[in-house]
Amino acid sequence: MNIVVGVTGGIAAYKAVHLVRLLIKDGHEVTVIPTEDALRFVGLPTWEAISRHPVTTSVHDDVAKVRHVALGQAAELVIVAPATANTIAKMAAGLADDLLGTTLLATTAPVAIAPAMHTEMWLHPATQANIDTLRERGVAILGPAEGELTGGDSGPGRMLESEQIAERALALIAERDLDGLRVVVSAGGTREPLDPVRFLGNRSSGRQGTALALAAADRGAEVVLVAAHVDGAVLADAVRHPLVRIEHTGTAAELGDAMRRAAEDAAVIVMAAAVADYRPAEVADAKLTKESGPLESIELVQNEDIVAGLAARRHPGQIVVAFAAESPQDADEMLARARRKRERKRVDLLVVNEVGWDRGFESATNAVQVIGESGAVLSRASGSKRAIADDIWDVISAHLG
Ligand code: CTP
Repeated sequence: MNIVVGVTGGIAAYKAVHLVRLLIKDGHEVTVIPTEDALRFVGLPTWEAISRHPVTTSVHDDVAKVRHVALGQAAELVIVAPATANTIAKMAAGLADDLLGTTLLATTAPVAIAPAMHTEMWLHPATQANIDTLRERGVAILGPAEGELTGGDSGPGRMLESEQIAERALALIAERDLDGLRVVVSAGGTREPLDPVRFLGNRSSGRQGTALALAAADRGAEVVLVAAHVDGAVLADAVRHPLVRIEHTGTAAELGDAMRRAAEDAAVIVMAAAVADYRPAEVADAKLTKESGPLESIELVQNEDIVAGLAARRHPGQIVVAFAAESPQDADEMLARARRKRERKRVDLLVVNEVGWDRGFESATNAVQVIGESGAVLSRASGSKRAIADDIWDVISAHLG
């Protein structure tokens, strides 16, 4: 993919170096077009070395190749990061007094900008009006985030992290192979209360399930994300996504109810949540104390198997995908267990990953295998939870035919 990264004159320009690196590592051809001001923050040699392409700021360089329009014409995606208040104003007005300006006018590719500025400048009516104008023209506005700013102050104005910018900008040109498909994805871990302050829970962060929901939505699906105790920071992108609706749940019973409701008109059900297999037989009305008597054991009752129930009641053509978190002795045992689990639950696909003290949970990366009806391994993927999510949707998409 041919990507132009415009860099404008803000301190966050140094973060754009990482953005360019990420895009190149992902296999894209990147041309960097800094503004003159941007070069006061990060110099030309850095951009040339990192992008492995010549870099200029002016429309008067390389005139024979009509560079001032050629870059825009050839671009398949344009990202401006950071986008200062000044550049946003210039874009809204259609000014073209440098190479980035002419490129932005010459391109028909999707354009994404990652604003970065102080809160006052971001909230100024002039900037907000310019942002509205750009949004109406179809420019994707990525962020800004709230957080600490350069002067030690904090508020909205901080540029999104490079990973988020890359992911969301690339989503603009992603294949829309799931357009209009209704899907339901569960994420997180249930908590089974013991008393008003204590619960039995698990370490699932909800990152993999949320990544699955976002990947599907970026590919055009309408997603219901049934979340059990997923942190607000993990859910932030899903909250903003127009194709994702989030339902918050707590216990296995609540999650089961929400899944059954959402499954009624879903074509695909993905059960990524870690569900408690047992719950305390009794839930105390008040906090259990030492004075209320010693607690040496907790009587448990079994929760229903939600995904097995959904699979048993699935309507024709509906695809049910379960997960398996395993701590096996070796790779063969992991696959054998996963195959047995898929048969027991009668699901179409089962995604197995290894969990342990130091793997699976809470981390940003994962490694999974997807097992199909014959027990065959249909796919193996490792890397970011988002990359894995896309791989899983590739398998589901092929299954949908
Ligand atoms: N699951 C479910 N309802 C439960 C328990 C699990 O729907 N009460 C789902 C999970 O969401 C996951 C799959 O079943 O998609 C497998 O979960 P896992 O915890 O690996 O397996 P269990 O069925 O609990 O079996 P075991 O604990 O014996 O490994």
